[in-house]
Amino acid sequence: MRDIIERLEQKRQQARLGGGIERIDKQHGKGKLTARERIELLLDADSFEEWDMFVEHRCQDFGMAQQSIPGDGVVTGWGTIYGRQVFVFSQDFTVFGGSLSETHAEKIVKIMDKAVQVGAPIIGINDSGGARIQEGVASLGGYADIFQRNVLASGVVPQISMIMGPCAGGAVYSPAMTDFIFMVRDSSHMFVTGPEVVKTVTHENVSAEELGGAHTHTSRSGVAHKAFDNDVDALFMLRRFINLLPSSNQRTAPVLPVRDNPDRVEKALDTLVPMDPNQPYDMKELLAKVVDDQEFFEIQEDFAANIVVGLGRMAGHTVGFVANQPMVLAGCLDINSATKAGRFVRFCDAFNIPIVTFVDVPGFLPGTDQEFGGIIRHGAKLLYAFAEATVPKVTVITRKAYGGAYDVMSSKHLRGDVNLCWPSAEIAVMGPKGAVEIIFRQEKDDPEKIAARTEEYRSKFANPFVAARRGFIDDVIRPRNTRRRLCRSLALLADKQLQNPWRKHGNIPL
Ligand code: HXC
Repeated sequence: MRDIIERLEQKRQQARLGGGIERIDKQHGKGKLTARERIELLLDADSFEEWDMFVEHRCQDFGMAQQSIPGDGVVTGWGTIYGRQVFVFSQDFTVFGGSLSETHAEKIVKIMDKAVQVGAPIIGINDSGGARIQEGVASLGGYADIFQRNVLASGVVPQISMIMGPCAGGAVYSPAMTDFIFMVRDSSHMFVTGPEVVKTVTHENVSAEELGGAHTHTSRSGVAHKAFDNDVDALFMLRRFINLLPSSNQRTAPVLPVRDNPDRVEKALDTLVPMDPNQPYDMKELLAKVVDDQEFFEIQEDFAANIVVGLGRMAGHTVGFVANQPMVLAGCLDINSATKAGRFVRFCDAFNIPIVTFVDVPGFLPGTDQEFGGIIRHGAKLLYAFAEATVPKVTVITRKAYGGAYDVMSSKHLRGDVNLCWPSAEIAVMGPKGAVEIIFRQEKDDPEKIAARTEEYRSKFANPFVAARRGFIDDVIRPRNTRRRLCRSLALLADKQLQNPWRKHGNIPL
């Protein structure tokens, strides 16, 4: 018996060494942690149970029969984060460059299947040279097996991808189908075709960093949701993020003890909206002032900054926030902001997270770029997402809510549960200037008349009371009371019951 235990320990020791000291040193030299170090930082102390530590590849070609390393380039298993179960796989770059073999894929598939069965999030730490070249098509099959699991798990358990090294070629499509992608600056890259192929095909000279680094994907392509300076920061923030999420679509997110008074009055909000309707203000100030302890976990902050999305807590409960940002493009909706917010709304709805929407939107961004780019179908995504969502929806219009964008932004007509507005709200088909230019076109050469008409339109329509008279909003509130009214509304809606008609699935405009 003792012999067997000793052998077991030896085997474990060997597996823990992965590709060996030299390659571990190389990994550290690049400022990267190893697969196991990452898991240790991510999970609660001593909570990790590793599965399939002794799995080895089955490849006999290209001298692979002589090179077998227990674990085969990926560490898999489960553990806890703040006491809640999560499944994790962490690719080990020290073993064949973290490349994906048939058995490597089988290990990932095993934990994904179990995560769905028990209802626990799946966290994938990606650091891989892609398909194991020596295995060829077997490896491709492995990727497809993972893709299929990603899709079946979508909307059932949260899936988060942490990109901590290379992730290229078809391999990018597993992270792409997860709910959130986080990257590490300077050490992670994602691209479908790398810089050499780009150069050959399009004659463009582009570095790996420029083509697929964290900056590109968080600010330009919108592929990734957040970037961090190093592995330690990234894993620490991932722990915080997971703590905001429910374990599955059958659960609600963990509720924290309430430290911040839900009735807290914020007098400064009374003066947040400037007198001049064309002057911007920072919507993030409002977000910071209403959430518990000013803690707002913003998502995709550098992409489509004309809309702000993220998670925070209200009276201890996780809430998803969507807010137009008047500081960027005057808060207009455009292709990227609609896509960004639409996907976020669908995530919240899939995982029972109530949605609070702050509205200050002058409309859709005009221009050929937008029209040729398909603002019609992309804008429809956000409309569809809000209309489809059955979670509690509370909306506060702070200033402009014009035209179609008024309808889109979680209006009463899209089953908004509680729709409030500030006295500064202007709910109308369009702004006074645009409206007068159209209805009084014949008076356009008479500036005095136009000014009088504009003022008349402003006093008639640029206020909350026309909509309030029709019941399109439930109340006009003082800005200082926003947190209290939101907390009360969310408590009211905690047991809301609403179901969409049965269908195989809807057909969201893609
Ligand atoms: C087998 C691989 C490998 C791979 C790297 N290695 N990638 N082994 N299959 N795909 C091995 C290397 O041989 C080396 O082994 C070790 O991992 C570290 O690699 P280095 O090149 O020394 O590291 P580095 O300089 O940091 O470069 C990393 C890299 C590069 C950029 C990822 O290794 C690389 O370009 N690899 C090939 C990438 C690739 O073409 N993959 C296939 C793409 S097609 P030793 O023993 O020396 O330590 C694909 C299709 C997926 O992925 C489709 C899904 C649908």
